[in-house]
Amino acid sequence: MKNSISANALPRLDSDVATSEFARDLRNGLAQSPRSIPPKYFYDAAGSELFDRICELPEYYLTRTEQMILSEHAAEIAEWIGPNAEIIEFGAGSLKKIQTLLDAFDDEQSPARYLPIDISGEHIASAAKQLRARYPHLLIQPIIGDYTAPLSLPTADARIGQRVGFFPGSTLGNFHPDEALAFLRSAAAMLRGGSLLIGIDLIKDPATLHAAYNDSQGVTAAFNLNVLRRANNELGADFSVDAFHHHAIYHPVHQRIEMHLISRREQTVHIDGQRFLFSEGQTIHTESSYKYSIDGFRSLAMKVGFRPGPVWTDPQRLFSVHWLHAPA
Ligand code: AVJ
Repeated sequence: MKNSISANALPRLDSDVATSEFARDLRNGLAQSPRSIPPKYFYDAAGSELFDRICELPEYYLTRTEQMILSEHAAEIAEWIGPNAEIIEFGAGSLKKIQTLLDAFDDEQSPARYLPIDISGEHIASAAKQLRARYPHLLIQPIIGDYTAPLSLPTADARIGQRVGFFPGSTLGNFHPDEALAFLRSAAAMLRGGSLLIGIDLIKDPATLHAAYNDSQGVTAAFNLNVLRRANNELGADFSVDAFHHHAIYHPVHQRIEMHLISRREQTVHIDGQRFLFSEGQTIHTESSYKYSIDGFRSLAMKVGFRPGPVWTDPQRLFSVHWLHAPA
């Protein structure tokens, strides 16, 4: 317990606050044209489990390829991180990915402090406990909160080395270009004089992308549809989930995969007394997953002052991991 800050000190999202945010974002999204639901609402317990299954799918190359790049280049990445670093992970989840990096250090060089940020406090406490048992010299201080909003970090030890942001998984791909810039701008401010290690999915042939988001087992479809089930469970909405179908397509002009839920027929959905009429074929845009070229992503980062360092990729150039120096 000594390594965790007290729950009251955390920028905590109470579950009723979270529920009303979901209600507000859902109603606002369905009032727009085209209709949309923010992708962050995919990840309730069932959605997180489905996402874990997506990561195991033969068609979904992202997670596996990034993991391969990180383990292949862990020693070199550890040198860029340097001794006694402080690592801040954005959207840390089950704290698995950090272990590949931690294992690349000798005890004396190992990071001093690890601050995993995640919106969901459910698993992070037990995951942190397991991590502490494995890395007894590492100070692990989970932060439960939204990393896209300003956060106050616990004060640093005077002897701490470089501050390094870690943002794996190509989660930045879910942000629209203006949101991606805003995130990078706030990350640059948070990491001032330090660095950002970030995983970015690359533009590639549309068939490979299409397969990754339309898997043959239908796990991605279940993941997409689950957001409606979540609205029914948490908000008392009455979506007939079977009356929608999963649609995912690559838009080369926007360089993004779009996921949609398309109404199979005319239907009315009620959310908290409000009625939403769907015509047959009407769509809800549930996710954009932007793909970048290596140079395109580096240019984006440079717009907010990052100085690009090395980029690691796989032989097929499916995925990329970037080192970016934050301006001092
Ligand atoms: C977690 C945002 C990287 O965009 O590929 C997986 C989420 N959506 N299958 C992605 C997702 C559909 C994923 N990210």
